[in-house]
Amino acid sequence: MRISILGSGYVGLVSGACFADFGHFVTCVDLDEKKIERLKRGEIPIYEPGLDALVADNSAAGRLTFSTDVNAAVADAEVIFIAVGTPSRRGDGHADLAYVASASEMIGRAMKDFTVVVTKSTVPVGTGDEVERIIRKVNPAADFAVVSNPEFLREGAAIEDFKRPDRIVVGLEDERARPVMESVYRPLYLNQGPLMFTGRRTAELIKYSANAFLAMKITFINEIADLCEKVGGDVQAVARGIGLDNRIGSKFLHAGPGYGGSCFPKDTLALLKTGQDYDVPLRLVEATVSVNDNRKRAMGRKVIAACGGSVRDKTIGLLGLTFKPNTDDMRDAPSLAIIQTLLDHGARVRAYDPEGMDAARALIEGIEFGADAYDVAEGADCLVLVTEWNQFRSLDLSRVASLMKTPRLVDLRNIYRTDEVARAGIEYTSVGRRAELSEIETQEAAE
Ligand code: UDX
Repeated sequence: MRISILGSGYVGLVSGACFADFGHFVTCVDLDEKKIERLKRGEIPIYEPGLDALVADNSAAGRLTFSTDVNAAVADAEVIFIAVGTPSRRGDGHADLAYVASASEMIGRAMKDFTVVVTKSTVPVGTGDEVERIIRKVNPAADFAVVSNPEFLREGAAIEDFKRPDRIVVGLEDERARPVMESVYRPLYLNQGPLMFTGRRTAELIKYSANAFLAMKITFINEIADLCEKVGGDVQAVARGIGLDNRIGSKFLHAGPGYGGSCFPKDTLALLKTGQDYDVPLRLVEATVSVNDNRKRAMGRKVIAACGGSVRDKTIGLLGLTFKPNTDDMRDAPSLAIIQTLLDHGARVRAYDPEGMDAARALIEGIEFGADAYDVAEGADCLVLVTEWNQFRSLDLSRVASLMKTPRLVDLRNIYRTDEVARAGIEYTSVGRRAELSEIETQEAAE
């Protein structure tokens, strides 16, 4: 099939490379000439494991091309994916659909024969109708069907998620689009990949509901972690104990510093706005958003408490800045609020992140950057593990202890065993676990 993708950002690039790898002929389009030039040279503007090789292989095979020529790409394609950004609109939290609207206009103008137009960008309920209206307005004679096909990719695991999805959701109102979408996803479909057809509005709602539910699940376990700390429970054992119930499931129950990233914060807000517009208050989502916002600064206060109540003139070393590992994405990262809280209380902050330092330098003022974890530990009064990158999972704790001014670790991802940290002579604080050997470790040791 001939597929064009408008928007060569994260979603557009990953989808384009994977569709090409399925054997389709894909053109990734972007109006940013510099970006397209770089992509033509094989330079990938984002960090995503495996994406560079996938782009290189499929470009070499002639199945993946990059272009700034929207008209040619649209006229040539049987299926056009809209994968432009939908950021939160400043001021009101609604999803900003300006890019979707301009992409729709361009599609309308350049469209030739029957074309399936697919929204892959995360868009509020009803956007499919809007895309249809815009195309019809600029080109009343156009023959097309608008489909909603939300993506559920996780950054850092996007290619794996694309090729082995839990489900593919396709929302359509025009049956002519069904066989076309079946062909697009045939390689997955043949492997019994769960392709689910729904109405267009339902598909749009599935995306938001999934993200809001996952955000709620994380927030729930984070609150239980706080309770564990007060009553002497162990949140990892609680998570395991409830997660083994199939109705609950074990994933997304890791307590931590709160969720961040490009999706959960933005999508929960947008869903709230939709609820308000339709006079359906979504109270659980509302509570999730506010609990998670408060939590990020609370993690800064946790560090202050671990330092005996004050961080004034103390040096705090931060391990990890991105909102999660295997990405260079700093959007809504908990590290931002934690750093601000520490700076507000007079601390000196030194940070290191394997991939996020360039983005962090552009965002954060008043902190220093280290060369690696040990460099950041040197002379520090406290080390804070914020993002669970692999290289922070097996630190030489004795070396860390010998480098620090005061050997103290605040582990916001519960990576370390309490006994190994204690053996290295490090004062240890984690999330929702007791200072002594945690219950789950005792169980594991007995097994
Ligand atoms: C998410 C969804 O998982 C994906 O389906 C959707 O398409 C986009 O949004 P992503 O934002 O890339 O993906 O990352 P994810 O792995 O879901 O993590 C989101 C945030 O939740 C991170 O800050 C992570 O640290 C946090 N998290 C996740 C937890 O704190 N605990 C968990 O148990 C899981």
